Amino acid sequence: MDVRVKQLVQESWMQVEPIADTAATLFYDRLFELDPALRPLFPATDLRDQKKKLMQTLTVAVRGLYRLEELAPALEALGRRHVGYGVQDAHYETVGQALLWTLEQGLGAAFTPEVRDAWAETYALVTSVMQRAARESAEETTLLRAAA
Ligand code: HEM
Repeated sequence: MDVRVKQLVQESWMQVEPIADTAATLFYDRLFELDPALRPLFPATDLRDQKKKLMQTLTVAVRGLYRLEELAPALEALGRRHVGYGVQDAHYETVGQALLWTLEQGLGAAFTPEVRDAWAETYALVTSVMQRAARESAEETTLLRAAA
């Protein structure tokens, strides 16, 4: 990943961090508007906790862009846990759309095409690590079932 891409993502995220609560609310509202079928995947009880987790994860991921290979095991484990939450490959596309839309709302004019591309690239990378681990664990489960 290009240094410029990392810089753009980190600088723009710093502008969103102060309005993290609002951004998280915008994100989930947008996500459920794009695909209402995703709503039941999230426990109805407390979305507030979930919002905090989302923002913390993004902050950790953005800070870790310079040592992504160290983040890989955590992202792989996160991807495998998402299978258990009922998340499918196609859902990542919708979440990515909601994320970019939220950044656009939060950043306004600062959300230039270059910034958008940098985020799209970063999200695609994180997603590919999560999805690959999820697929591999699903294949292992199938193999183990067949062998049992
Ligand atoms: C870059 C992509 C994503 C990241 C970084 C991310 C991050 C997280 C984190 C940190 C958690 C907290 C639980 C844990 O650590 O296992 C979580 C839970 C969850 N995520 Fe994601 N997620 C991503 C994509 C998605 C997608 C595509 C969906 C599909 C709708 C999704 C749905 C959920 C659900 C349903 C939970 C569980 C909620 C709960 O039981 O409290 N996530 N996610």
